[in-house]
Amino acid sequence: MMSVIERTVSSVTAWFNERTPGLMPAYKKHMSEYYAPKNFNLFYYFGSLAMLVLVNQIVTGIFLTMNFKPSAAEAFASVEYIMRDVEGGWLIRYMHSTGASLFFVVVYLHMFRGLIYGSYQKPRELVWILGMLIFLTLMAEAFLGYVLPWGQMSYWGAQVIINLFSAVPIIGPELTEWIRGDYLVSDATLNRFFALHVIALPLVILLLVVLHLGALHEVGSNNPEGVDIKKVKDETGKPKDGIPFHPYYTVKDLFGVGFFLTIAAFILFFTPTFGGLFLEYDNFIPADPMVTPAHIKPVWYFTPFYAMLRAVPDKLFGVITMGGAVLILFGLPWFDRCKVKSIRYRPTLHKVMITLFVIAFVVLAYLGMQAGSPAQTWTARILTVFYFGFFLTMPIWSAMGQTKEVPARVPDHD
Ligand code: HEM
Repeated sequence: MMSVIERTVSSVTAWFNERTPGLMPAYKKHMSEYYAPKNFNLFYYFGSLAMLVLVNQIVTGIFLTMNFKPSAAEAFASVEYIMRDVEGGWLIRYMHSTGASLFFVVVYLHMFRGLIYGSYQKPRELVWILGMLIFLTLMAEAFLGYVLPWGQMSYWGAQVIINLFSAVPIIGPELTEWIRGDYLVSDATLNRFFALHVIALPLVILLLVVLHLGALHEVGSNNPEGVDIKKVKDETGKPKDGIPFHPYYTVKDLFGVGFFLTIAAFILFFTPTFGGLFLEYDNFIPADPMVTPAHIKPVWYFTPFYAMLRAVPDKLFGVITMGGAVLILFGLPWFDRCKVKSIRYRPTLHKVMITLFVIAFVVLAYLGMQAGSPAQTWTARILTVFYFGFFLTMPIWSAMGQTKEVPARVPDHD
């Protein structure tokens, strides 16, 4: 016999299902009947964490917008007002600014996972491409956001980055003026950056995330072994090495969320600017068009690319190098010729190359933060050549060496 509560729940559910015929099938397809490989490891937390941080950015962003004034005359003071006078304003602001850096930490680790497990390989090329589009939009979003508090780094960072467009042949000067909306970085620039930052780009990111997950669920998730779990199914058609996303991974991801929030809380409450890395000290000084800061540099997540820009003496080629360093990542699914996905089954050469690549990227990030002595510039040049060489020669080295045989089923050690 059904209890009153059970009967009420089932009739309310039936009422909704009749009126929203697509909802239950969608829930089943993406949650309760989405069979994910049973061997996800630590690296598989970062997708759901990226979604969590995205929600955090949107929610805290909405609250910041309630007190922020997008005008050159008032922006800086309105942020100080949020920090000092708005109830809980300091927390909301730091959740947003520290959240931006954590977003990049999470997304870089998410991309690194893709790199070591070959998640971009067939049939997940589109998942990777959509991820890259998210990455590009996220970079634009972060840059625009950093301009809004109208501190010295906001102002001069915008000045440097927008000026890069002047390197474009023929239309360069007009293009920069069009982007700024004025002859110099000004109120008009701040206004349009605000519009793009609070609504236009967040909408694009949200749409791209939906498409990213839609594309992933169409082909199914990869895993640390690179085993294709769809090849071995039971009599009901379910992959033998798959488990329903809900409840198994919803619960597991919740553990990841708890862990992540603990670390995030430590940073937020003890070192929200992370020693000037997440919010630079110069940005606590109001923008002054008459005083150029001694050392203009972007926030840490842009510094690998910034180091590559500065490594090239010619402005136009510098811009092409920097843009190329991001765009070349789109080609990864086609550069990689290895017949196995995961690093676990690849030859030592591949492991060495990926390790060197990570080291080069981290050192470039460090160099991008430095003033740039001749020795540092030369190091950045060598690493830039290695960075591009890694991708451009990948079709050769990724086809070399002896791969290990990938088992048909996920091995027990996982
Ligand atoms: C807002 C940013 C992003 C969000 C919210 C997001 C979300 C997700 C989620 C929830 C998953 C499934 C869970 C997981 O595998 O971790 C996933 C998988 C994936 N994402 Fe992202 N992602 C983002 C950015 C990116 C970027 C920038 C890339 C790469 C350029 C990328 C590439 C991938 C790939 C290749 C997979 C499949 C991994 C596999 O099955 O092994 N994602 N993403």
